[in-house]
Amino acid sequence: MSEWQKSTWRAKPRVQMPDYTDQAELARVEAQLSQYPPLVFAGEARRLKRHLGAAGRGEAFLLQGGDCAESFEQFSADGIRDTFKVMLQMAMVLTFGAKVPVVKVGRMAGQFAKPRSAPTEVVDGVELPSYRGDIINELAFTPEARIPNPQKMLQAYTQAAATLNLLRAFSTGGFADMNRVHSWTLGFTDEQDVQKYSEIADRIQDTIDFMGAAGITADTTHQFSTVEFYTSHEGLLLEYEEALTRLDSTSGNWLAGSGHMIWIGDRTRQPDGAHVEFCRGVLNPIGLKCGPTTTAEDLKVLMAKLNPENEEGRLTLIARFGAGKVADHLPRLVQAVREEGAKVTWVCDPMHGNTIKSASGYKTRPFESVLREVRDFFAVHQTEGTVPGGVHFEMTGKDVTECTGGVRAVTDEDLSARYHTACDPRLNASQSLELAFLVAEELTRLRADQRRRAAS
Ligand code: PEP
Ligand code: CO
Repeated sequence: MSEWQKSTWRAKPRVQMPDYTDQAELARVEAQLSQYPPLVFAGEARRLKRHLGAAGRGEAFLLQGGDCAESFEQFSADGIRDTFKVMLQMAMVLTFGAKVPVVKVGRMAGQFAKPRSAPTEVVDGVELPSYRGDIINELAFTPEARIPNPQKMLQAYTQAAATLNLLRAFSTGGFADMNRVHSWTLGFTDEQDVQKYSEIADRIQDTIDFMGAAGITADTTHQFSTVEFYTSHEGLLLEYEEALTRLDSTSGNWLAGSGHMIWIGDRTRQPDGAHVEFCRGVLNPIGLKCGPTTTAEDLKVLMAKLNPENEEGRLTLIARFGAGKVADHLPRLVQAVREEGAKVTWVCDPMHGNTIKSASGYKTRPFESVLREVRDFFAVHQTEGTVPGGVHFEMTGKDVTECTGGVRAVTDEDLSARYHTACDPRLNASQSLELAFLVAEELTRLRADQRRRAAS
């Protein structure tokens, strides 16, 4: 393979990236970002890679979640806290089902750039360039707002740094202490959820009390008072990614310093394209979205390019086919992985194949479809004898009305009440927790089945 540098992507065909009109301004911003500190460190990315390797073997389980698109306007400490809190709750529920550590990765601190299905948007006969995320242009439907502005990369960097700072504080500063497991119950979760969650919290408290009686106290057990939380985003805006790429002096490898894990989207995974070229050279764990149009041949080429050393935890395949379509597509890709003897971590994104337009005109996702895709995903892995290594959700800790369904049923008519997403519809806190219980049930079933098979 040809030699890699952090800029070799520039010679490859690029899609889904803005054409900046002011190239001099772009160069100034890139130069400035190149001087800034990276947001993450190589040792952290390597540690996450080890955890993802464990998830690929069934010895851990990945929970990846957060906004479809982080927003400048909606940036707040409360928003970060609520999403972090719901992810901790979900992780707790999943740990009970999976009986393995849950690896927590936010779609946070860098999830700003969006691929779009159409380059322009038409409203009342007026055609404008599409909104591509706050790091590129603005959501407002005016010609000025839609012009790509390089300065926005600096604002995105600042917001990502502040977000990561708060996440690090929450993770180690006492907020995530298991002794507070009861206090993580959010005010607005469903009664049923509160009860189920409280039962788990009681059992955790009992265990902590027992350990305390036995002389192992939470105070002295670091694992109980802190949590590891990682960040991830789609590595779409390559000027931003390149400017934050740094040489890791201990290994001599390159680190994408913008986040711990970066993924390649369903629209930018061309084997000879710019995004694959950039990602192949950085040491971070890489995610690759796999959709209905992913062929076994392409996947083989992509695995060879992105993980030539067949390193565990390096490559996470994020399946997003749509409810009812998993069995049509996943088996051929599982087969391709098997034929190559490739080490991958399979993760289910039940969001992106299930977007519909509601009768009321909103882009939404029925909770039922999301759940069904998760079940389909587990069923295929059970049949194939492979490992479902995690889940990937678009979710928020806020009580939004963007996806329909769930126990506190959000209806088509409800969507307009609190529809706040800048891009795709997210599960709200209650729906997220409900889904975690359902995934935990799948995991419990899977483990029981594995035990039965091992015993017979
Ligand atoms: C996303 O994860 O927000 C996204 C755009 O996904 P995909 O590339 O799978 O469509
Ligand atoms: Co999305």
